[in-house]
Order: sequence, then C-alpha cells, then structure tokens
Amino acid sequence: MAGKKADELDERVGYYGEHLVLLAQTLGLNTCWVGVSYSKVPGTFVLDEGEKIACYIAIGYGETQGAGHKIKTVEQVSNVSALTPSWFRRGVEAALLAPTAVNQQKFSFEHIGVVNDRHQIRTKRGFSLIGYTKIDLGIAKYHFEIGAGTDDFDWV
Ligand SMILES: Cc1cc2nc3c(=O)[nH]c(=O)nc-3n(C[C@H](O)[C@H](O)[C@H](O)COP(=O)(O)O)c2cc1C
Repeated sequence: MAGKKADELDERVGYYGEHLVLLAQTLGLNTCWVGVSYSKVPGTFVLDEGEKIACYIAIGYGETQGAGHKIKTVEQVSNVSALTPSWFRRGVEAALLAPTAVNQQKFSFEHIGVVNDRHQIRTKRGFSLIGYTKIDLGIAKYHFEIGAGTDDFDWV
C-alpha cells in the first residue's frame, strides 16, 4: 500500500482480505491470517517509500483442517432480540465464525433502527493489547454480510 493512510484502511484490509481467504477455502486450500508470529526473512519483498505490510495471509494445503474452538454467543456480541430481523441473527452467527487475531472476538453488532425502510447496523470494536481489532472487524463485517445478505441494511 502506498500513499496517505485512509482512516478505514485496516478495516478494509480485513474485509477484502477475507474475500481471498474464503475463496481459497472454497477451492479446498487452507489459510491463516498472520500479523505477528512469522519469520522476517530479509529480501523476501521490497517495499517502496510509504508502503508497509498490514498483515499476511498464508495460503496452502494444511496438514489438518484446523480445530474448532470456543466462540462467544450471539447475545454477547449483539443486541439481538425478538424485535430484530432473523437475518440479523444469521449475520452475527456468521461473524462469530470469523477468525480474529487472538480469538478474542472483540467486536459487536448493534441494530439501531430503520430509516427509509433500511435497517441501520452499527459495529463497535473493543480494545486489545495485541491490536489488529480493525482488521478483525473488517473480517467480521464481511462474514456478517454473507450471513445476513446485503439487501436490507446499511452500515452506519
Ligand atoms: C488479523 C489476524 C492476525 C493474526 N495473526 C496471527 C499470528 O501472528 N500468528 C498466528 O499463529 N495466528 C494468527 N492469526 C490466526 C488466529 O489466531 C486464528 O485465526 C484464530 O485463532 C482463529 O482460529 P481459526 O481460524 O482456526 O478459527 C491471526 C488472525 C487474524 C484475523
């Protein structure tokens, strides 16, 4: 990436990076986002002035298909209720299947109302000492869109 850093850049890295991740997974490959724990081998790539690595995505054939782990509940990360549409729950459920940097799932989804027939959905991210919560949020938002569909709501 070159040039001035846009406010939403890290979130976009997560959002669009996850498109690559899920495509690779559907092709039968395995993937892992890598932000921290990798060997920095000199000369592997050359960065121009103003460019930086936001995150890596390792793609290959895994020795295993990974393992499940504990995830939060829909109620813990959203204001789901009898009044929220069923697709809202499906979106949050899909977001809860998204990878996050240290499995902390520090994101939340809030249904805040309907304006001109469009549901308004707001996201928040919590604090993490490790960082990467903006990338995590972008990843989770893409998952939410897959679960909820994009026809009925706007991000606000
Ligand atoms: C932004 C981001 C950065 C990550 N960085 C690392 C990393 O540096 N090292 C690592 O082993 N895993 C890393 N991961 C992988 C997560 O630990 C992993 O996705 C999470 O444990 C969820 O596991 P799952 O993908 O098997 O569901 C990262 C994931 C994300 C989303």
